[in-house]
Amino acid sequence: MLKSLFILFISLLGILKWVIEVHGESGFCSAPSSSSENKIILESESIYHKVTNPTLSPIHLRDLPGFTRSVYRKDHAVITPESHVFSPLPDWKNTLGAYLVTPAMGSHFVMYLAKMEGLSRSALPPQDVERFIFVLQGTVTVTNVSGTVKKLLVDSFVYLPANFEHSIQCETTASLVVFERRYASLQIHMPEQIVGSTDMQPLLDTPGEIFELRKLLPTSAAYDFNIHIMDFQPGEFLNVKEVHYNQHGLLLLEGQGIYRLGDNWYPVQAGDAIWMAPFVPQWYAALGKNRSRYLLYKDVNRNPLL
Ligand SMILES: *[C@@H]1O[C@H](CO)[C@@H](O)[C@H](O)[C@H]1NC(C)=O
Ligand SMILES: *[C@@H]1O[C@H](CO)[C@@H](O)[C@H](O)[C@H]1NC(C)=O
Repeated sequence: MLKSLFILFISLLGILKWVIEVHGESGFCSAPSSSSENKIILESESIYHKVTNPTLSPIHLRDLPGFTRSVYRKDHAVITPESHVFSPLPDWKNTLGAYLVTPAMGSHFVMYLAKMEGLSRSALPPQDVERFIFVLQGTVTVTNVSGTVKKLLVDSFVYLPANFEHSIQCETTASLVVFERRYASLQIHMPEQIVGSTDMQPLLDTPGEIFELRKLLPTSAAYDFNIHIMDFQPGEFLNVKEVHYNQHGLLLLEGQGIYRLGDNWYPVQAGDAIWMAPFVPQWYAALGKNRSRYLLYKDVNRNPLL
């Protein structure tokens, strides 16, 4: 009798452990919390929270030490969140950065994630380098030489011309994706500071294509790159199997699908970043149940011989 009670007790313990292990993963059993606390957590979740809180290790892969979906090839790279390495950004205050694309790969720009913490502040980019910042989570303020302060929420952005004095500050926490490149000047055209948000940008025509396109910067000659926001419903894909002279840095903000790069087909999901060298064959198909949205750097408006 005692023995069978003991066995029953041990089995119950086993089941309890299993419940904690399985459900603890998805947060059901993490620290007991009242529903009002849950609500606060949900409300503060940014629409791009999958980028800032990525699934580092899908459950069926968690016992595969050394496994990563990241790849680095001569003409492209896929950098997935389990590979991110953050370190203090030079000269920034209280900010960690992870460079995802740099000229060491062959690009003419850098793309990095910046995690700003309490009372953090940016440093200026090097001489003649322009900067674009997009907010993924939290709130930052931008102060420029006129002393004007602009507040940037999730989904908003600022473009800062080369040698334009400014400071980005954050009181609590914020995550940014940042692009910088040495400005290709045309003398007669002068770019200006641009502040905006994705939802304020008009949808543009995409002849022959089905995806929705917004451009965050003016298309005029003063700007030597643009940032595109591209939305695909599940099942939609690029019609043109693109091969072109422009280079790209891409951050998948929502959804999942298959990215073709050269002769490789990569399953990708929100949080993944991609580097595409000029002329690498590229194509995307959105899959799953939800919209795919990505943000894409593209160099434009300059003669390739310059
Ligand atoms: C500073 O920012 C404000 C607000 O965005 C803008 O109106 C002003 O033109 C900027 N100053 C300069 C020198 O660009
Ligand atoms: C898909 O979108 C629905 C409705 O917006 C949402 O409830 C669900 O969590 C999303 N699924 C994924 C996998 O993101």
